Amino acid sequence: MQVFVNTCRACLLLACISFQLTTVSSQSRDNISYAWAIYELPNVQYDWPNTSEKARAIRNGEYIVENNIITGIKVHMDTIYVTVPRWRPGVPSTLNVLGEDGVLRPFPSWAMNTLGDCGSLQYVQSMEVDPNTGRMWIIDTGRVDTRAAGLSPRNLCPPKLVILDITTKKIERVYEFPDNVVSHTSNFMNDIVLDYVDGEARFAYISDTSDAKIYVYDFERNASYYYQDITMNAQRLIPGVQDGLLSAPVDGIAMSADFAYVYYCTLTSIELYAIPTHTLRRPGANFSADIIHVGQKAGGSDGMVCGQTSLFYAVFERNAVFKAHSELRGQSISLKTQNEVISDQESVKWVDTFAFNGTDLWFVANKLNLFATNQLNFNGSQSNMYIWRLEVGEHGYLWRARERTLNQNVPLVIVG
Ligand SMILES: *[C@@H]1O[C@H](CO)[C@@H](O)[C@H](O)[C@H]1NC(C)=O
Ligand SMILES: *[C@@H]1O[C@H](CO)[C@@H](O)[C@H](O)[C@H]1NC(C)=O
Ligand SMILES: *[C@@H]1O[C@H](CO)[C@@H](O)[C@H](O)[C@H]1NC(C)=O
Ligand SMILES: *[C@@H]1O[C@H](CO)[C@@H](O)[C@H](O)[C@H]1NC(C)=O
Ligand SMILES: *[C@@H]1O[C@H](CO)[C@@H](O)[C@H](O)[C@H]1NC(C)=O
Ligand SMILES: *[C@@H]1O[C@H](CO)[C@@H](O)[C@H](O)[C@H]1NC(C)=O
Repeated sequence: MQVFVNTCRACLLLACISFQLTTVSSQSRDNISYAWAIYELPNVQYDWPNTSEKARAIRNGEYIVENNIITGIKVHMDTIYVTVPRWRPGVPSTLNVLGEDGVLRPFPSWAMNTLGDCGSLQYVQSMEVDPNTGRMWIIDTGRVDTRAAGLSPRNLCPPKLVILDITTKKIERVYEFPDNVVSHTSNFMNDIVLDYVDGEARFAYISDTSDAKIYVYDFERNASYYYQDITMNAQRLIPGVQDGLLSAPVDGIAMSADFAYVYYCTLTSIELYAIPTHTLRRPGANFSADIIHVGQKAGGSDGMVCGQTSLFYAVFERNAVFKAHSELRGQSISLKTQNEVISDQESVKWVDTFAFNGTDLWFVANKLNLFATNQLNFNGSQSNMYIWRLEVGEHGYLWRARERTLNQNVPLVIVG
């Protein structure tokens, strides 16, 4: 409530983001008690030190407004963190805080978003915020201009995982992935989830939407390895149903609230798979032998997220968000129910990434397929990015993870 009111006031004052709009009343719909599009943004604006700095950045191509689109989102306390991928040139800052005024402020600083400085962030698609520790886990591909017409990708820096304390902005760990795990010249580390063991965020799992892999980072051993399987490869779009969508390898990744399974799917595919964490936690496991085909989603999606009881994902074909429940049968899981939570042709178009804050589910809808094909207009005449907040009546998968995993009597066997 607070944020809605604050944002509303800021917007009205600055008239930079139109408002009030899309409120969906869905009392009866799957326990969603409210749903608001908190932001409607026509383009991405940054908080420049001064106007001459902004003018200089526009002049020399450091800021090209139509190449900036918000994809990733995480919310912690009163702050909304968003990412702007450096797919194309002219993105001044890749990791940012979204202010109540709809303006992006580089996070943790301008300096930490310096292009070409390998001590800084180069290209961040996603991050995870652990509400138990206040730590942000940031994945940086190290590569930019990877989707720029007429330009070759620039492999500026090694790919890395940066863990930082949100409150102090202190960097607690930097891990550079070796080239034989995460390719320095072809990776697209896209999404990240955390896995709790014995009260600690012990593992991170990361999808690679270019090289079709799932990476495992072991925090305790400060080591990484990867898994690859045919189910991670891009699938063909369904003709007549998925026309105009995009296809790519494994993208959406979601950790179950009991830290037993990781769900994954390739971009826009309807096939949903899961892999037990007991497989992922062990280097050299037979991944392929342990894959579970959970079922078919109601449509193609990008990001996914688990709450305490549900799996949330987008259905592009219906401009919707769905909520699914799965059922455990022996060692296998299958989809039991799938229900639409919200849909809108304009403001729920291409739901990209989800986040939890308390029992609020947040997501970014950004018309990404139209961005990829240069069909968006960034001159202020239309909204291109919508940021939604829904009260879904359940917490996210990381809620009280420390307490919930402390008394597990599951021995962890590390082989190799
Ligand atoms: C709604 O919430 C109730 C109580 O929390 C729960 O039992 C029920 O399964 C939920 N319904 C759906 C569709 O999620
Ligand atoms: C604008 O900000 C830049 C960078 O902080 C600084 O170097 C410059 O002196 C400032 N210019 C004016 C006119 O304040
Ligand atoms: C996140 O949840 C907390 C606790 O409910 C709330 O105080 C805070 O305002 C929320 N943050 C946002 C950005 O809504
Ligand atoms: C973890 O490994 C990285 C290699 O990229 C190294 O630079 C760093 O010092 C290690 N950190 C710890 C805590 O061992
Ligand atoms: C992994 O499991 C699959 C399927 O059960 C099997 O065909 C394959 O031989 C196994 N690979 C190894 C290296 O054991
Ligand atoms: C923005 O572009 C559209 C389509 O090209 C045009 O109709 C409109 O007048 C433009 N608006 C502004 C404010 O420049």
